[in-house]
Amino acid sequence: MNTPLLTITLAAGLGTRMRSKTPKVLHMLGGRSMLEHVLALSDELGARENIVVLGPEMQNRTDRIIPAGTEARIFIQHERKGTAHAVLCAREAFAGHDGDIIVLYGDTPLLTAATLRKLRSALAEGADIAVLGFEAADPTGYGRLVLNANGHIEAIREHKDASEEEKAITLCNSGVFGFNGRKLPGLLDRIDNNNANGEFYLTDTVELAREDHLDVAVVTCDEFEVLGVNSREQLSVAEKIYQDRRRREVMDGGATLLDPSSVYFSYDTKIGRDVLIEPHVFLGPGVEIADNVHIRAFCHIEQTRIGEGAAIGPYARLRPGADIGKSAKVGNFVEIKKSSVEEGAKVSHLTYIGDARIGKNANIGAGTITCNYDGFNKHFTDIGEGAFIGSNSALVAPVKVGDGAFVGSGSVVTRNVEPDALAVSRARQTQKSDWANKFREMNARLKAKKNK
Ligand code: UD1
Ligand code: CA
Repeated sequence: MNTPLLTITLAAGLGTRMRSKTPKVLHMLGGRSMLEHVLALSDELGARENIVVLGPEMQNRTDRIIPAGTEARIFIQHERKGTAHAVLCAREAFAGHDGDIIVLYGDTPLLTAATLRKLRSALAEGADIAVLGFEAADPTGYGRLVLNANGHIEAIREHKDASEEEKAITLCNSGVFGFNGRKLPGLLDRIDNNNANGEFYLTDTVELAREDHLDVAVVTCDEFEVLGVNSREQLSVAEKIYQDRRRREVMDGGATLLDPSSVYFSYDTKIGRDVLIEPHVFLGPGVEIADNVHIRAFCHIEQTRIGEGAAIGPYARLRPGADIGKSAKVGNFVEIKKSSVEEGAKVSHLTYIGDARIGKNANIGAGTITCNYDGFNKHFTDIGEGAFIGSNSALVAPVKVGDGAFVGSGSVVTRNVEPDALAVSRARQTQKSDWANKFREMNARLKAKKNK
């Protein structure tokens, strides 16, 4: 499709039912805001421009609202006078646009590019308006698509304005429209607010277009795809649908999920083939997992790369900047932050690794801590290839342990360790022969005396 495209995303609604200080469209779904989902869709369709209509209370927060790396042109709707009025707020951005215009809602994040492509196909085949409709299980509250005897759409009637007969219609308006850009401004100019809400309805474009003998098409999709989020409960329903979609994609891509419903993905999670993920795993944004990785139960992972054949968990926490090499092993109760664990290295139990490099094939004993923070600054720990850190050691950064070096367990390492050396910093062990027997005898005597 070579016709240029503009998208207009309406997001001026207050979202009072969310009971939140955060604007509704900034609430998160699969690791990014609902608005970001919609903007990503517009990018996926190759829109020439993303136009976003926001409410006045969002005027000073646009940098937060529009994610870095996304280009969007913002218009403010100062008074909420309806969906047509909202679109008209962006008039200067689309007046004279010779191409398609798609209107989206910022609170409808589950829509797919495939459905929008169908809408564009209808426009390409000559429709001046393409309405995205759906069969509603319960149509209450939605605008109804009123069809004539030939099955052609005549009008969209809002619930509040509908007759009893019209209320029985279950084919509803999703709110998403495709417009022929040359026709839209003329239609918008003729919309009035003669209705139950006293608002300027975008839906009225349909009736006006029919009066002009323009071609109006209806494209349908599944109801869940156009689920609008107005409350936290609806947000949780949307999240569930989104997660189920991602789970299916991940399994289709060749990963095994033992209990899909307990594994959470983000919009950008990348997973290779023959990855095995056990139950209760949460993957925040920025996670990339290569082939043949095994993630055991109860792991929390975000902004992390995991190399081929690595094994993670159970109960591992991988925080932003963790980079786990090929065939490396991260075991239970291990936390890793902003550190690379190179190929074949093992961090198997009860360990904190922060701001560090763990060299190839190094072995980090149970209970090792990199002391990376002095209360003011973070410092780096560098552990060389094949080094061995004995259990319960504290590595006080900045510090470097050379290739092949050993650190005796229980050491507090404050100075660099040469390659292939042994560093031990704990107190030397002493021994008092027969001390325990004497200790026991003394206590037995004292006890006997007391009981006399
Ligand atoms: C709208 C449709 C209805 C459809 C339903 C689907 C109209 C008149 N009605 O009804 O046919 O079935 O969506 O969910 O279009 N908005 C603004 N500025 C405004 C008004 C709305 O930006 O002045 C935005 C809202 O933030 C929201 C969207 O437009 O994202 C829809 O507005 P809303 O008030 O929820 O419309 P509905 O009454 O649900
Ligand atoms: Ca709504």
